[in-house]
Amino acid sequence: MDLQVSDEVSKEYLAEVLPILKNEEFLSLGNFCHHQWTNRLMHSINVSYVSWLIAKKFGCDEHVAARAGLLHDFCLYDFKEKTPTGEAQAFYHPKAAAENSERVFAISDREQNAILSHMFPLGPMPKNKEGWIITLADKVCASMELCHVAIALEKNNRMVVSSI
Ligand SMILES: [Fe+2]
Ligand SMILES: [Fe+2]
Repeated sequence: MDLQVSDEVSKEYLAEVLPILKNEEFLSLGNFCHHQWTNRLMHSINVSYVSWLIAKKFGCDEHVAARAGLLHDFCLYDFKEKTPTGEAQAFYHPKAAAENSERVFAISDREQNAILSHMFPLGPMPKNKEGWIITLADKVCASMELCHVAIALEKNNRMVVSSI
């Protein structure tokens, strides 16, 4: 999986997320279709970027917002598959994403909570401001993706995910 980044993308934002975006296992999220029209890597990048922008604007922790936003769907399986616990995917996948994020990137408690609560009101309520931002950004990005509208870093090919 290869990621092309245009000069338009904020260097400040990139500095927050590059350690994650250089990880091969994480980049393989690009192999999974998401919300019909995009892939899970591009969706995660958009949620991360929108969360980072909102966190900066309102004086929240933009580092946590960017990282947890990027990791919120870090699950390397098809969401149409049955879950090992029998739970609905909406309740199961945030736990799988938090577990994978902890294993690969050693996330903070604040990041973990934001990942676990991103499906609210399905699942737990966010315990911090960044969690609220990510659950909102996820819904906005998902709605746009379902309507096939390119926003944030998907717009104007600011970031492009391609297979190599
Ligand atoms: Fe999700
Ligand atoms: Fe998501």
